[in-house]
Amino acid sequence: MRVYRGHLIHIGGAPRLAEAHHHLVSVPDGALAVDENGTIAFSGRHDQLPATLAGADVVDCRPGFLLPGFIDTHLHFPQTHCVDSYGGGQLLDWLQRCIFPAEARLADTDYARTVARDFCRRRIAVGTTTALVFGSAFPDAQDALFEEACRTGLRTISGRGIQTVGPAAAMPLLTDDATAIELTDNEIRRWHGAADGLVAVAVVPRFALSVTAATLHALGELYDAVRGSGVYFHTHLCENIGEIEAVRSDFGVQHYLDTYDGRLTGGGRSLLGRRSVFAHAVHCSDHELGRLAETGSSVAHCPTSQLFLGSGTMPWRRTTAAGVNVALGTDVAAGDEWSIPRVLNDCFKVHISEPVGQDLSIPPAELLFTATVAGARALDMEERVGNLDVGKEADFVVIDPRRQPMLPAVLAPIDPDDSHRLLFTLLLSMREEAVDQVFVRGHRLTTAPG
Ligand code: GUN
Ligand code: ZN
Repeated sequence: MRVYRGHLIHIGGAPRLAEAHHHLVSVPDGALAVDENGTIAFSGRHDQLPATLAGADVVDCRPGFLLPGFIDTHLHFPQTHCVDSYGGGQLLDWLQRCIFPAEARLADTDYARTVARDFCRRRIAVGTTTALVFGSAFPDAQDALFEEACRTGLRTISGRGIQTVGPAAAMPLLTDDATAIELTDNEIRRWHGAADGLVAVAVVPRFALSVTAATLHALGELYDAVRGSGVYFHTHLCENIGEIEAVRSDFGVQHYLDTYDGRLTGGGRSLLGRRSVFAHAVHCSDHELGRLAETGSSVAHCPTSQLFLGSGTMPWRRTTAAGVNVALGTDVAAGDEWSIPRVLNDCFKVHISEPVGQDLSIPPAELLFTATVAGARALDMEERVGNLDVGKEADFVVIDPRRQPMLPAVLAPIDPDDSHRLLFTLLLSMREEAVDQVFVRGHRLTTAPG
């Protein structure tokens, strides 16, 4: 048993977004006790630690803050080295000119191992304890990612990016349908549930434009066979206007989401559900939002990426009012930030800048909720992670303001009991250098070379 002493901040219980404000827990002199299994045994005021824990080792993190580990529900492993790539245009140009050629380099397994190491190091540095990771097309590169996730102890869900059609630049990433199914099936058999459940696998078609109706039919059959064992589904949806027009015309559908929802010519199985996460959803129709909500699917909101590619802004009020769970994603590398708090900073700014009527100053507790509880909910892991409640697995970060120039001075005038104001300034100001320690299931993760 070990006790971490510091200022605890999290969203307790299992509230809905609109209730987050009333669930903000802030304990200035707090204690988090973690048992041998990595489970939270006590969470609360230090002076209320039970006598049975009096002899436990104490790690004094003061004047640090203890927050739940950040949850990134959308980022691309094979784009680790691609942030701020210039394509001279929006999504489809950028993919062809920058991203497909860069992702093709992971056919070299030695290079892929370097990328996997860098990828996991970046995640630890910014305190992203759990991530849903868009994978490489190449199975050996995926093995490198999963091996590194197991070695470092990062909670990781990923699946190889499936592409069966595309422009010339995408050729090295394509397979036929039968191979796509076989490779995905193998990946599930080999990695789903690895590292005592820290690792899981997703079925990941890149987006509708990188597959055919036949591929989607086959993936629907595959997903139906494996969804019972907790396999995830992950893809992009309604990110860019040009992309949406191409999907409608290529597939002859009214709504982009129909392609993933078994509503193609000839029918098929739906890929929606409580372990299905759709990145972006910037330009959804009411029908699409309704289907996402009624199937328990989630949206990975990626405002930093949407700014970088000029994709627009996911309408926050409309999407959340439709009952869709909205989690956060960096979308590295279209998102040029690895840090979830930096993406929250953009999230706050883009939504307060939405057109009048949509503009909204997202309350601090809702920001923290989106980066933690909503992510856990999107990944159907809320029983295990997302906050610092007793009984949860101890995934948390220690933020030490002294590590970041001027952060102590910025926080100093704020009354520690003015928890909403304090949280807002901490979340929007903090950079990765303030992340001091990172824990998953009670184990401290390090960026040391292995
Ligand atoms: N749509 C299809 N592929 C991608 C990708 O790599 N990044 C983003 N942002 N959107 C995509
Ligand atoms: Zn993406």
